[in-house]
Amino acid sequence: MEKQLMPQLDEQQCEKFRNILRKKAHLPGVLIGLLQEAQELFGYIPETIISEIAAATGVPSANIYGVITFYSQFRLQPMGRNVIRICEGTACHVNGAKGILQAIEDELSIGVGETTADGEFTLLSVACLGCCSLSPVIMINSETFGRLTPQKVRDILKQHRQRTA
Ligand code: FES
Repeated sequence: MEKQLMPQLDEQQCEKFRNILRKKAHLPGVLIGLLQEAQELFGYIPETIISEIAAATGVPSANIYGVITFYSQFRLQPMGRNVIRICEGTACHVNGAKGILQAIEDELSIGVGETTADGEFTLLSVACLGCCSLSPVIMINSETFGRLTPQKVRDILKQHRQRTA
């Protein structure tokens, strides 16, 4: 997969985060809290910030990456402008969610948890979107699409791209 280009970090936000580091880095058990603050500030946890956390806390970067990848709340990439949520709950699973997921992955060349290289789409998986009678279901931002087939979902993504082009 082509790697998403990382946006330039805002210097003011970096300075704000360094202030947080200066105040809190020495506190015991502070790592998760620092990662949450970083994600709130930047929308994800940038690589350079991980290095700064490592330097300030003395926790090796590899361990920090371990924590980030363990908890699904943390992201190493910024979210795309459009967020696709694919339901992999029971009803959707039984009615073909796997084929829908495959179609999205093929169409966008990304997997679950990833963002397209142009920053247009992020793909997330959820347990139930609360509209099982429409299964299989996806949401794109706040819009719900149900009774999908792989072909329908390809068409929806193409139309979405045309609309936002
Ligand atoms: S299982 Fe997919 S909407 Fe409920």
